[in-house]
Amino acid sequence: MTVDDIAELMQRRGAAQYGREAVSQLEHALQCAHLAETAGEPDELVAAALLHDLGHLLAAEKEQSVEPASDRDDLHQFIPLPLLRGLFAEAVLAPIGLHVDAKRWLCAQEPGYFESLSPASVHSLALQGGPFTPEQAQAFEEQPHAQAAIRLRRYDDWAKVPGVATPALAHYASLMRRLALR
Ligand SMILES: [Fe+2]
Repeated sequence: MTVDDIAELMQRRGAAQYGREAVSQLEHALQCAHLAETAGEPDELVAAALLHDLGHLLAAEKEQSVEPASDRDDLHQFIPLPLLRGLFAEAVLAPIGLHVDAKRWLCAQEPGYFESLSPASVHSLALQGGPFTPEQAQAFEEQPHAQAAIRLRRYDDWAKVPGVATPALAHYASLMRRLALR
C-alpha cells in the first residue's frame, strides 16, 4: 500500500457515515488529524490520527459494506497494520493498534469518561472487552506509545462534529509522504 493508495481509498470510501455519528468517515479522519495537528502533536501522531479507522474502509472494500457487524468486535484497529508496516514507523502504527485499548484504559482510569461515551461506543466497548482491570491498565501503560494512543483516543472522541472546517486530504497526503519510509 502506498500513500497514493491510502488517499484514493479514503477519497472513494470516505463518504460513508462514521458509525452512528453525524459525520462521514473522511470528515472524521480529517477532524481527528486536524485536532492532533493543532494540538502540536508530532507528524507521526497526526498521521496515526488520520489513519486510525482505516480498518473500517479496508473492511468495506472486502465485504462491500461499511456497516460493522453489531454483534462482534470488528478488530478494526489491527486491520491496516500489515498494510502500513514498511510504509510508516512504529510511532504511526502503534497508536493505531492501541486506540481501542486506550478507550478501555480511559474507561477504567478517568472518572466520567465512560459516562461521556455515545451509546454506540458503549456498545462496542462491551464487545471489545469492557473497561480494563487495574492489572490490564498497568500492562497497557507499560507499552511504548501508550500515551500517544490515549491522546489519539481523545482526538477521536472530539472528531465527530458536523461542518467543522479542516485542511483537505491533500495536506495530510503530503505529510504522509514526508513520513513514508521509502
Ligand atoms: Fe475513530
